[in-house]
Amino acid sequence: MAEAVFEHRLSEPADFAAAGIPMPEDLAEAVPMRRAAHLAGRICAREALRAAGAAEHMVGRDRSGAPIWPAGYLGSITHAGQLAAAAVIRADACRGLGLDYEICMTGEVAEEISDLVLRPADRKGIAALAGVSFEEGATLVFSLKESLYKAIAPSLGTFTGFEDAELASIGDGRARLRLVRRLSDALPDGTEVDCVYALTGGAVRTLAVLA
Ligand SMILES: CC(C)(COP(=O)(O)OP(=O)(O)OC[C@H]1O[C@@H](n2cnc3c(N)ncnc32)[C@H](O)[C@@H]1OP(=O)(O)O)[C@@H](O)C(=O)NCCC(=O)NCCS
Repeated sequence: MAEAVFEHRLSEPADFAAAGIPMPEDLAEAVPMRRAAHLAGRICAREALRAAGAAEHMVGRDRSGAPIWPAGYLGSITHAGQLAAAAVIRADACRGLGLDYEICMTGEVAEEISDLVLRPADRKGIAALAGVSFEEGATLVFSLKESLYKAIAPSLGTFTGFEDAELASIGDGRARLRLVRRLSDALPDGTEVDCVYALTGGAVRTLAVLA
């Protein structure tokens, strides 16, 4: 696992060259902030691969934008605000890993996205969390489901929506998400995925591990 606070100005081709990381063609015209986030995420991915003991540290990118990890490793990259992070694990340890950071939504945004993102079990779960506002809880469930998506998408090849999973349990930095429909033979209805989370300084950090 690696995490960094990055500067939005570090987004030029020279910055990518200095870091030894290729700038994807489709990001050449992107806003500087997006390029800086990509660069910071890839630097974190390299550090996380080193920490996991990998011999190869370069992460590719498929057509959908998903990272391609060196053989024998799985991982996930995220960025939010000025934070970037990557988590890496040996591929024989689990089927998928998803990492997601989000800056806490405002109350207005949380209300707007709530019908799309929250199932009744999610609303019940976050309402029971002591000291957590509705917008923090909504951001938390949003992030948990994004982490779940990242953990399952590379091996799935089909779309999943926020309505396809709900909280089975949440509290004390741990959560379980349950699939409420069959996504594939390997991901039947009722599959549960373990997650961990942290809510600090206006940011939400979540990690999902598909066993
Ligand atoms: C792709 C997606 C997960 C990115 O999440 P995000 O919160 O917008 O952005 P983050 O900064 O956290 O993550 C971006 C990184 O995710 C990675 N990523 C992109 N597509 C991915 C995919 N299909 N699978 C795994 N990782 C992916 C990339 O590394 C990307 O960074 P990079 O382009 O700079 O390399 C999101 O935009 C999305 O499409 N979600 C699906 C919606 C959904 O249905 N979720 C709930 C299902 S239960």
